[in-house]
Amino acid sequence: MDFRNKVIYQIYPKSFYDSDHDGIGDLRGIIEKIPYIVKLNVNMIWFNPFFVSPQKDNGYDVADYRAVDPRLGTMEDFEELVAKLKAHQIDVMLDMVFNHTSTKHEWFQKALNGSKKYQDYYIIKEPKPNGGLPTNWTSKFGGPAWEKFGSTDRYYLHLYDKSQADLNWRNPEVRNELYSIINFWMTKGVKGFRFDVINVTGKDARLVDAKPGEESKSLYTDKPVVHDYLQEMNRESFGKAADTVTVGEMSSTSIENSVGYTNPDNHELTMVFSFHHLKVDYQNGEKWTKTKFDFMKLKRILDNWQSGMAKGNGWNALFWNNHDQPRAINRFGDPGEYRVKSAQMLATVIHLLRGTPYIYMGEEIGMTDPDYHGIGDYDDIEAINAYHALLKKGLSENEAFDIVHAKARDNSRTPMQWADKENAGFSSHQPWLKPTNYRQINVEKELNEGSIFNYYQKLIQLRKNDPIVSHGGYESLLMDHPDVFAYFRTYQNQKLLVLNNFFKRNTAVTVPDQYLSLDSRVLISNYDRQTFEKSIILKPYEAIAFLLIDRESGEQHV
Ligand code: GLC
Repeated sequence: MDFRNKVIYQIYPKSFYDSDHDGIGDLRGIIEKIPYIVKLNVNMIWFNPFFVSPQKDNGYDVADYRAVDPRLGTMEDFEELVAKLKAHQIDVMLDMVFNHTSTKHEWFQKALNGSKKYQDYYIIKEPKPNGGLPTNWTSKFGGPAWEKFGSTDRYYLHLYDKSQADLNWRNPEVRNELYSIINFWMTKGVKGFRFDVINVTGKDARLVDAKPGEESKSLYTDKPVVHDYLQEMNRESFGKAADTVTVGEMSSTSIENSVGYTNPDNHELTMVFSFHHLKVDYQNGEKWTKTKFDFMKLKRILDNWQSGMAKGNGWNALFWNNHDQPRAINRFGDPGEYRVKSAQMLATVIHLLRGTPYIYMGEEIGMTDPDYHGIGDYDDIEAINAYHALLKKGLSENEAFDIVHAKARDNSRTPMQWADKENAGFSSHQPWLKPTNYRQINVEKELNEGSIFNYYQKLIQLRKNDPIVSHGGYESLLMDHPDVFAYFRTYQNQKLLVLNNFFKRNTAVTVPDQYLSLDSRVLISNYDRQTFEKSIILKPYEAIAFLLIDRESGEQHV
């Protein structure tokens, strides 16, 4: 099947289902829940890392890329999982964390023990002549990006936690090691790869300070050499199997680079995750702030990426949620009265755009952020560091908590809510993160009486069946409308008109006359709307897609 017809489901293994009742989800738990995943009818599952890891950053600190963390299962469990999913035509996508390894990885340990070969696997630098850190770069998790290398007077680079040492991609031996890891997993039947923060791998040989007012990330993000690395990786590993699906997680990237990463002529990746649309509730670009989202900015960003990527023949990964983001309903919808309508509306936006939609576990039942009351409820290193940094800045405990509560990554990492039972039916043991509102929101209830899950099923079906959804072009519409994100998809003599009201109030949309004479049919609606007319009053969080067919023009474009 063409990748453009696919929908991908994301599972955070630690939080999906706990089969051995230790409070942590595991691979056998996922096997038990295959019938649930099959119901949704997705084509591929992206699994967050389950490799051997000290879990300082929940598995993004890998100590052995070829082995399963015993807390999450065994290689036999993984092989069984792949085979059982395959029986339902569901493929597996693994998460390759290649910008850095855990400092517990044997390469780093050998480097610490004095091996020159392995020291050259990492980015280890002398201090400045005045004894200061090699550069003034900051870690994305707070504090400086440099840490003392063992008992030497040198430092190693860590763009993330100090337990995550950046690899030296300039060293071809490192790159070959990484490609052989991909090849290893391909022999296990893996058909998809997500590459973690892959566009920060291109560091220069000589690293320089960020200038005053300049952010250090501009010195190592989206460097041209990343395209060379991806082309080489494609050639040496996944490119050998034509049906492999790849997605690069691109930190602070540009449309131009993302076209480069995904235009098929370049032989780099199938698609990219970009994040600009998820920064529209940051005050002055700062994540650890709390403010309402800027709707007009959101529209502009989505529109620019749709148009720009289509123009350059690039391909977007489409998503609102993942394991690093608070739940989208809390940010862009209404977790209260309109939880269901806003969940359906947000799903419509993403699933009918040009690109490949990703569904993050729990999204399909409308899960919301947990109702946590203190910093002790959080586990994530980033949230805890941010909380302390906010206190240091002079915020009160309440103010700091309020921000963390809105922005923490743990908001989406809470256990999957299976039932209105102790621990949300996730485990009989106290889970590693506390579930909260499972009485109201859980799989059992949703499947019995809900309308979010079956709405997702419909959207997935549309992408599988309707070429306008999977292969159509994109056109902007009503860019100045203050409440509605609208767009056209185009295919042969058809147009798909998609209208999404992002607010709690009714709002009017006027359809231009030239479309009113076309044949029309409702493809999907979250309010059971039937008629296509000049003036449409959209209800709170209403989403509707009309398929318009120009019978006169035959195969011509409308
Ligand atoms: C990516 C992952 C995130 C992790 C970081 C460092 O952004 O999605 O969870 O903390 O990379 O590996």
